[in-house]
Amino acid sequence: TTVEWEAESYDMGGHDTYMHKEIHEQVDAVDRVLRGRIDDRFATVRLGGLNLDAREARGVRRVKILGCGSAYHTGLIGAQLIEELARIPADAEPASEFRYRNAVVDPDTLYIAVSQSGETYDTLAAVQELKRKGARVLGVVNVVGSAIARETDGGVYVHAGPEVCVVSTKCFTNTAVAFALLALHLGRIRDLSVADGKRIIAGLRRLPEQIAEVLRGEEKIKELAAEYANAKSMMFIGRVRGYPVAREASLKLKEVSYVHAEAYPASELKHGPLALIEPEVPTVAVLPDDDLLEKNRATLEEIKARSGRILAVAHQEQEKADHTIVVPRNEVELDPILMGIPLQLLAYHTALALGRDIDKPRNLAKSVTVE
Ligand code: AGP
Repeated sequence: TTVEWEAESYDMGGHDTYMHKEIHEQVDAVDRVLRGRIDDRFATVRLGGLNLDAREARGVRRVKILGCGSAYHTGLIGAQLIEELARIPADAEPASEFRYRNAVVDPDTLYIAVSQSGETYDTLAAVQELKRKGARVLGVVNVVGSAIARETDGGVYVHAGPEVCVVSTKCFTNTAVAFALLALHLGRIRDLSVADGKRIIAGLRRLPEQIAEVLRGEEKIKELAAEYANAKSMMFIGRVRGYPVAREASLKLKEVSYVHAEAYPASELKHGPLALIEPEVPTVAVLPDDDLLEKNRATLEEIKARSGRILAVAHQEQEKADHTIVVPRNEVELDPILMGIPLQLLAYHTALALGRDIDKPRNLAKSVTVE
């Protein structure tokens, strides 16, 4: 299927940068990735280009997701969604590493290549190596007809529309939603109940309005960015569902503002990086309201005890944090999709406060088509 881009041209549409424009386009972009795909009757989704029938889908024993940079991070979210909703063991790995390590290619594993441009050389090389060894490879790709879209056996188009800023925002979010669709589809072929299918569908339908609500909080995030812009370094943490969000937010901040940032699973903090915590090294903590919230709150106490400043992203004000960005609640499985969005704005406003070249950060290209 193809989608018309009438609503989104290359025009800046009153925004000062493409990054700002693309962050604000996410309400429509998410609506578009869902459009025409939800099947209420069977509480599932229809993915026309997948090229994987129900019998083949049932035969999948493992899922391996490959991508680079932000695409790899959406793969981490995708792997969690596939494990949770479809109960298939799944993991993600940088395509740039995978292609160099003579990986064991297993016929019962479904490989998924993720890419905005569909032209990233490392990801394409991983696809070609997998195909050469006889693997089945799907693509989760934004640019229709791109090299990775052509070389894969089928897949899901992300329909984010053209993304011009070097730093990925709307494509990241749409790719995570595309993975939720794929996970729901695989889950409903296997053991996900009708009730859970309906619950996830209702959650997906709430996303565009909830994204709009997050974007309405931009003024507050701008003030927070001014407060944290002079940090020596920023620590980003999250546990399980929050961790890929922390990784992506840390990459976003580095790319666009050049502020050094590290991302760690919250549980790893005490195994080393806690030594870095001091007032000049604030922590951004991603805290979904899941069964790990209490554990996460204990980590905040450990940071406070070392006089670390904390900016929390959560569903309610966090007592231990200096500031909280409150994000609306969805279904726990979908919360990571929403929690990344305020942190895109944090990176954007930090870069703006520091006078950076937002759409074209130094040393970076939109797609890396060379080795
Ligand atoms: C995103 O902010 C980055 N510029 C970068 O990590 C990017 O995601 C990566 O190079 C992969 O690009 P692709 O999605 O076009 O394959």
